Amino acid sequence: MRPSSRWKDMPEPSHFQQELRAIMAEKRRAGIRVLDLTEGDPVIFGHTNQPLSDALIEAAREGLHMYPEQTPWREELRKAISSFEKRYRNMDYVPENIIIGPGVAGCFQILHYSLLEPGDEMIVVEPAHYLTGPTSYWYYFKAKVVTSSCSEDKDWDPILEELPSKITEKTKGIVIVNPNNPTGAVYNEKILKGIVDIASEYNILIISDEIYGLITFDGVTSEPTSKLAKDVPVITLGGISKIFMRPGWRVGYICIHDPENKISELSRTIKRVSGLYGHGMTTIPTPILYAATKAFTGSIEAGLEMAKKLQNRRDYAMKRIEEIEGVTCVKPKGSLYAFPKVEEISKIWKNDEEFMIELLKEESVLFNPGSGYGPSGCGHFRLLLLPEINILEEALTRLERFLKRKRISW
Ligand SMILES: Cc1ncc(COP(=O)(O)O)c(C=O)c1O
Repeated sequence: MRPSSRWKDMPEPSHFQQELRAIMAEKRRAGIRVLDLTEGDPVIFGHTNQPLSDALIEAAREGLHMYPEQTPWREELRKAISSFEKRYRNMDYVPENIIIGPGVAGCFQILHYSLLEPGDEMIVVEPAHYLTGPTSYWYYFKAKVVTSSCSEDKDWDPILEELPSKITEKTKGIVIVNPNNPTGAVYNEKILKGIVDIASEYNILIISDEIYGLITFDGVTSEPTSKLAKDVPVITLGGISKIFMRPGWRVGYICIHDPENKISELSRTIKRVSGLYGHGMTTIPTPILYAATKAFTGSIEAGLEMAKKLQNRRDYAMKRIEEIEGVTCVKPKGSLYAFPKVEEISKIWKNDEEFMIELLKEESVLFNPGSGYGPSGCGHFRLLLLPEINILEEALTRLERFLKRKRISW
């Protein structure tokens, strides 16, 4: 029996990923603890949100184990997200224009199913989370990803002059991640307006991933792209994984902003595709629907507490990085990450993946290499701000020691 040809071009794990897995397994067998700073998961770094745990226990106690369709909780969650978007981001998305799915990753997949034909092009403003392996479904839909870059010299802002040259008649949209994973950039209104104007001129839509929208530092606010789009359709993505610290619950959502009804057919399709649920792959379990409703109607205090800690950890990391020869970093304004550049990478190693393999082998510390986030990420690595300062200190000290040693032997 032949499998579906749709999966024919699905990439195998890269040589880099395979090698990483092998080294990690070897370290585990040898009882060596690796400082693994790769996963943007607040839970594994000890950030907690007790009221939400209580809500989940309550769901179980209430016996909410029936099929979701038998309950009002899917609709209640959409209403809760609508009120959350109003309260915290001053957005007016009616519940009918909010579609929920299993995480932003699942929502992104729903969008791809709804939007893309083979040969279609999507522009991704990089560096961006969407270019890393597991989140890129483009190959599956045989769509082409076209990247447009940001400028590290300008706080990792998108290079607006570059964007129009990337648009062809096959372009369906521009994907932005703001606040950004991995750079920590928060795009200001001028930049966002620039992107909106380009989308308007070329009649394409914007997909704006704002999952980190409320995780910002130093009083910076991150504006929703939709707010600036008077005629351009914007599809905004949000979720429970970061600000509510519940990535394992797999709750994400799509908000449709379409002031001039330019994408009403697409909106209908997205709703129908997400409604293919039944008991299928876009479903969210009933107890989670219940507890997530409590999250979105409740307070974000715990998330803001986490953001405060991240700001302190960022300040520590920036100071420590300054002390390390050959490493520089643009100060992040939001999200869970910083994106330092290591001058030596291009001199000593073939690429940042080889650098990371050697760092892991010799110092048992692991970061995500920057090139996975797009061409501008080459020579960088993603530093998580989630771990406690002593862990960041240990990781950066190992990096410093490693670079010193390599510099001498090179
Ligand atoms: C920009 C961005 N969007 C989405 C996600 C994943 O969200 P979810 O857990 O809801 O699938 C991440 C996770 O790191 C992310 O960085």
